[in-house]
Amino acid sequence: MESSMKSLSLDRSLYFKSFELFIERSTEHQCMKKFLDENLPDVVTGIGKMGATCLNVLGVGSGSGKIDFEILGKIQSKHPGVSIHNEVVEPNPHQISKYKELVKEKGEDLNISFTWNQLRSEEYEKQNKERKESKKFDFIHMIQMLYFVESVPDTVKYFHSLLETNGKLLIIQPSGNGGWHSLWKKSGSRFPTKSGFLGVQKVLDEMRAKYRIYELPSDMDITECFIEGNEKGKLLLGFLTDVADFRKTAPVDLKAEVLHYLRHPPCSREENGKVIFNNDLHFIVVDN
Ligand SMILES: C[S@@+](CC[C@H](N)C(=O)[O-])C[C@H]1O[C@@H](n2cnc3c(N)ncnc32)[C@H](O)[C@@H]1O
Repeated sequence: MESSMKSLSLDRSLYFKSFELFIERSTEHQCMKKFLDENLPDVVTGIGKMGATCLNVLGVGSGSGKIDFEILGKIQSKHPGVSIHNEVVEPNPHQISKYKELVKEKGEDLNISFTWNQLRSEEYEKQNKERKESKKFDFIHMIQMLYFVESVPDTVKYFHSLLETNGKLLIIQPSGNGGWHSLWKKSGSRFPTKSGFLGVQKVLDEMRAKYRIYELPSDMDITECFIEGNEKGKLLLGFLTDVADFRKTAPVDLKAEVLHYLRHPPCSREENGKVIFNNDLHFIVVDN
């Protein structure tokens, strides 16, 4: 690791500003919506014990809850008349407030109750273990959050162990064939953050877990990253590398390598004068 570079994700407010811009410049949430509309209904059809009157759902790293809320809607439409209890594990208080606002706005008539845990996944696990609690869940999801955990294997194993009979765990992260993996395989060892998302499939294989991967296309317009002094480009480049102000703080050779690599296949393609980054996603559905 090079000493002058700092992880963007350590600066919560800058991180979320960059994340919001990423959502604006990419088809990330549209891609997730497509999976939720076209594939999730089949995935959640079989969850729940025979005759269950309530389904327990756990969201880990929920952010502002936009995607979680869609998931709850899909589960409810496949299990009409069954109530849902949704537990949220999210360390950022600002994101939890946004999620609560969303629930107030859209969730009043729904038969869904919530427990809010303003905790990191590691703290939630520790708390459960101290209380000797191991509540089981019919559906657990970890959406674009495994980069931040201390140990991907421990996190995946622990949350998989909380699955109820017929339960499913959904992990959403960048595709193994997309730009994120290419960039982080090439230069990630020199970035200050470890690249947790690279090893999830290996962990599942070692666990001998039964899983299925759906791969869906997604794009991100990163043209502004190549315009020196462009504020939005600075945020996007920071988001891609998880380095705050990458252009200013990265060593010259790393900056040249990343800017060159990002601009070409397999990371990106040029289209109508724009640089389009491959943001394809993997939707990994793990059985109990
Ligand atoms: C990239 S955002 C994804 C948010 C949301 N799931 C989505 O896809 O829109 C990652 C989220 O994980 C949360 N997070 C970071 N470290 C975490 C941890 N150790 N345990 C649980 N959540 C964490 C962050 O606060 C943030 O809300």
